[in-house]
Amino acid sequence: MSLKLTYLAKPAALASYSLIAISTLLFSHQPLADTITNNINLDSAIYSDSARHHPVWASKGMVASQEAIATQIGVDILKQGGNAVDAAVAVGYALAVTLPRAGNIGGGGFMMVYLAKENRTIAIDYREMAPSKAHRDMFLDKYGNAVSKLSRFHGLAVGIPGTVMGLQLALEKYGTMSTKQVIAPAIKLARDGITMTADLANSLRDSKQRLSQWPSSKAIFFKRDGNLYLPGELFRQPELAHSLSLISKYGSKGFYEGETARRISHAVVENGGLLSVADFKAYRAVEREAVMGTYRGYTIASMPAPSSGGIHLVQMLNTLEQFPISEMGHNSADTIHVMTEAMRRAYADRSHYLGDPDFVKIPVKALTSKTYGKMLAKQIDMDKATLSKDISATEKLPYESDQTTHYSIIDQFGNAVSNTYTLNFSYGSGIVANGTGILLNNEMDDFSTKPGTPNGYGLIGGESNAVASYKRPLSSMTPTIVLKDGRPYFVTGTPGGSRIITTTLQVIMNVIDHSMNIAEANAAARIHHQWLPDILRVEQGISLDTLKLLRAKGHHVEVKDAMGSSQTVMLSANGVFGASDTRQASSLSKGH
Ligand code: GLY
Repeated sequence: MSLKLTYLAKPAALASYSLIAISTLLFSHQPLADTITNNINLDSAIYSDSARHHPVWASKGMVASQEAIATQIGVDILKQGGNAVDAAVAVGYALAVTLPRAGNIGGGGFMMVYLAKENRTIAIDYREMAPSKAHRDMFLDKYGNAVSKLSRFHGLAVGIPGTVMGLQLALEKYGTMSTKQVIAPAIKLARDGITMTADLANSLRDSKQRLSQWPSSKAIFFKRDGNLYLPGELFRQPELAHSLSLISKYGSKGFYEGETARRISHAVVENGGLLSVADFKAYRAVEREAVMGTYRGYTIASMPAPSSGGIHLVQMLNTLEQFPISEMGHNSADTIHVMTEAMRRAYADRSHYLGDPDFVKIPVKALTSKTYGKMLAKQIDMDKATLSKDISATEKLPYESDQTTHYSIIDQFGNAVSNTYTLNFSYGSGIVANGTGILLNNEMDDFSTKPGTPNGYGLIGGESNAVASYKRPLSSMTPTIVLKDGRPYFVTGTPGGSRIITTTLQVIMNVIDHSMNIAEANAAARIHHQWLPDILRVEQGISLDTLKLLRAKGHHVEVKDAMGSSQTVMLSANGVFGASDTRQASSLSKGH
């Protein structure tokens, strides 16, 4: 097979960001360009003459994020000698300015870090927490019905933000640069302004009605006369620049104590919520043990609870490993059928077992065991769909959310970061705390506001995910690192609410089962099933014949909008590769 060097110049869009550093050892034996041009055995997972999408290539490090300026900031940090964590923190702060619908300092998320020197993977949980005064029935009316407005567009919707504590924890423990260095680009962008893009203008247009309800939000995101900023116009956020500069000066304390905490608490209480200054002081980001699994010889390291992502990703892979997926074919009716059945069962378990591990005991070992995967695989009838109403969480185990954003990074030292964070909905609750420029999350809607009542993504939760004081709401975010022979192979993740876990699953299967390069793996048409509602959601691009076969098996197929925005980076002996999902306009993968 001959390598077409023109492929290397093709930019791919990135929707989330992950960072990985590449071992200098890997490249020291001969010049990379020489390796590339003379190596005719390039990994088919990267280059293939049959591919219609190709990743971007670089020799040292790579950033894939959902927004081009933020990606460039991450690359600049890598070029300055920063590691993947330095770049991840810089990208995290930058996206709060350039992608305000999902990038944030008023929300929360999860970061997976692979440390090359220690050959160790770390999971950082900076998910929001319910305020101290939160309680089980806080979203119910006097008749006991859940009131969705309260958990979505109200002061009560706001959880204690975790992003700043999470980014600072990562930087202080695993980074090499100062807060001042990594946050400076974000401050500059907020203070001096960014050029309004068509993507940002469109999303503000779509959220105008909601954001305009709050004068503090309207004043930032729209012109004085209430009109939209047009593409090409300057868009400044001076109050956000001020809040970021307090973090630059005082670290986490510049957010969790003093002016910012006071202003956010005031805004939330003014809007009927419960967040107190004491809640900010009580917030902690924590390191947790990564969920580990294997799939056809590759190791999967993903996010543990309070995200459901890692557990159910591994559960579904264990189930699907029982089938010859590669032979069955990509997006064939049989493959989609078994994937759907695996998804349906995993999401039923999610609704029953998953919640904040500090409050509920989750049978992680059982849910992620090969034994359980085999058990679930045996339940699958190749000819007939199971009805979701006939499925509940498995009682006898063998033993014992749409606007989030993800980025992936690899650095020149072999380190990797996979980070997903969010405000929950696009622009979160829509409330900007006056004087801070900070949009506040509506993550409380990810709790089960009433057992059996669906959240904003249609996910049904149970008692395990009921609201409680200082509890973290269950998430679907699935930042993931796939390892080969103990070292990162590729790093991926995506936004997409409840579809995050199934999208991540498909990117992994596309690479491992279907030998796609990461750009193809991101681009391929996706499917999703989440147990309830009993709908097999598919993107356009799956043949009508296939859909007919699936309907004949009993699936309730609906063709709907595109799902997810995967940001994937990959390491190989020939350099680093990046691919940003083309489903969202502003994504960019770039390396150095
Ligand atoms: N807010 C969406 C999620 O965390 O899954």
